[in-house]
Amino acid sequence: MITGASSGIGEALALEFARRGIHVALVGRRIDALESVAARVRELGAGALVLPGDVADRDFAESAVQKTIEAFGALDLLVLSAGISMWARFDEVKELDLFERIMKVNYLGAVYFTYFALPYLRTRGGDIVAISSHTGITGVPTRTGYAASKHALQGFFDSLRVELRETPMNILVVSPGFVDTPIRENILGGDGQKAGYQGRATEAPMPLEEAIRQILEAIEGRKRELVMTGRARFGRFLRLIAPALVDRIAAKAVGDPGR
Ligand SMILES: NC(=O)c1ccc[n+]([C@@H]2O[C@H](COP(=O)([O-])OP(=O)(O)OC[C@H]3O[C@@H](n4cnc5c(N)ncnc54)[C@H](OP(=O)(O)O)[C@@H]3O)[C@@H](O)[C@H]2O)c1
Repeated sequence: MITGASSGIGEALALEFARRGIHVALVGRRIDALESVAARVRELGAGALVLPGDVADRDFAESAVQKTIEAFGALDLLVLSAGISMWARFDEVKELDLFERIMKVNYLGAVYFTYFALPYLRTRGGDIVAISSHTGITGVPTRTGYAASKHALQGFFDSLRVELRETPMNILVVSPGFVDTPIRENILGGDGQKAGYQGRATEAPMPLEEAIRQILEAIEGRKRELVMTGRARFGRFLRLIAPALVDRIAAKAVGDPGR
């Protein structure tokens, strides 16, 4: 089961799973986009179930899991990729709903799907893959609400992993940097509306194919953590000894001049 399967990382993973003969349940809000992914999954010889809805809706999460079990009889892997991002300094925010919306989609949506899927995953010794971000590891200007949602996601899954330590389940938290997907088209501005990305990111995005290769390798290796660039892996350690330097690197990465 993949949330955020209509685009980007979720869509690409759905197609890779289909190539391996794995049936997929596809979650997202845009039914046309989901149907198009489902058609390609079926062409590759795997089963596809389209589940249109908003991950921030608890009842939808529960019914989506039930429909998946009814269709496929079991659930082995839950990929939580549904997410929205923001681009606004905190002093430019005009609409606080922005923070609620991001938290509901990026964090609570993942909690709801995990809650309803967990009993089925447990019986199969299945896995959960949560797509977080470098902003789940360190603070990034213009992303306050987004970073908070990804820190929440990281804390939630780090805690759940400990609770499940005696089970054969695996929890993988993936932290990508910039990946070349349509995410920026849907980025929310300080007024809570779609803004499109107007920042001055200095880092070239990672090609989607490379991100997917790394994620598949981590899933197959049943890793607990995937931090996607060498720079971010180094940054995690640098932060312990030179946090102000990491702040400056983060500001430069998104082109925030400070004020
Ligand atoms: N691309 C990057 O640079 C990058 C970097 C770090 C982390 N990430 C994380 O990677 C994940 C995937 O992002 P992406 O790059 O693949 O972006 P994307 O192409 O924009 O895909 C986002 C997916 O989330 C779904 N989604 C958004 N809001 C939803 C909602 N309320 N309910 C259900 N589905 C919803 C979208 O589907 P609908 O529009 O059909 O609802 C879409 O399928 C996100 O969690 C993102 O935070 C991405």
